[in-house]
Amino acid sequence: MTWEWDETLFAGAAEHYERGRLPYAPGLVPLLAGALPADGRGRLLDVGCGPATVTVPLAALFREAVGIDPDPEMIRAAERRAAAAGVARRTRWVRLRAEELPAGLELFDAVVFAQSFHWTDRARVARTVGGMLRPGGALLHLADLKGERHPAAGSPYPAVPRESIAALVREYLGPVRRAGRGLLPRGTPGDEAEILAAAGFLGPERHVVPGGRVLERTADDVVAWTLSHSSSTPPLFGPRLGAFEADLRALLAGVSPAGRFAERVPSTEVFIWRIPGAV
Ligand SMILES: C[S@@+](CC[C@H](N)C(=O)[O-])C[C@H]1O[C@@H](n2cnc3c(N)ncnc32)[C@H](O)[C@@H]1O
Repeated sequence: MTWEWDETLFAGAAEHYERGRLPYAPGLVPLLAGALPADGRGRLLDVGCGPATVTVPLAALFREAVGIDPDPEMIRAAERRAAAAGVARRTRWVRLRAEELPAGLELFDAVVFAQSFHWTDRARVARTVGGMLRPGGALLHLADLKGERHPAAGSPYPAVPRESIAALVREYLGPVRRAGRGLLPRGTPGDEAEILAAAGFLGPERHVVPGGRVLERTADDVVAWTLSHSSSTPPLFGPRLGAFEADLRALLAGVSPAGRFAERVPSTEVFIWRIPGAV
């Protein structure tokens, strides 16, 4: 059976997202500022914006930044983050699935998918956003660089025990990766290059923005990290959520009695695609 999107995909994850997720590489915004038609006059669309992780730092480069996300709690978190960062007036948040675009949002100079394209009906969405970009406009596809190791040599604290956490999640939720009401036995799809090329995009230009400093993470951060993922959102545990959290905390205390862990900020892989035409 093929997996089908449903609105519970990130249910309950937003409140854990900002605390739990590791930041993107520190050089990401300067790289994009140099690569984009971003002179403060254009418009940016962030599809699957989550809690505005990328929208808010990029907002200063555009006249208007619009973030869309189908999860209502993510949209509320995005609004709060924009207000706290003082960019509320140049940002707009719309609860919407990518598949519902263009939704009257008009033309943009850049569109970003930060760890979100794989959750969409990609061929259809690529065609739609291609039509929402001005000639010369850019599509940014970005994600944590795959296959990188996170442990931080030299730290007094141990690495986050990711394998043991994954095993505990499997004990509670079963051997096959969960996603909303469905299962993803083969994980999320990659290979978006063919899809974007078929939709008329040129490229890509690939950049790896190097990861940065070592972060000290608390057990609370690691619990939030776990619950921020679609494969282990709080509702998936149902009435066993409390037991899961207690087991997770015991596991973490066993690895680090001080309750502290070390993790390196991952590198960010960025692909820049362009719509043909004048910039
Ligand atoms: C892994 S999070 C990434 C959030 C943010 N872009 C970031 O980089 O931190 C994926 C986001 O995509 C959203 N999403 C899932 N399916 C979507 C769809 N079909 N259309 C638009 N957004 C979607 C989720 O609600 C979630 O907020």
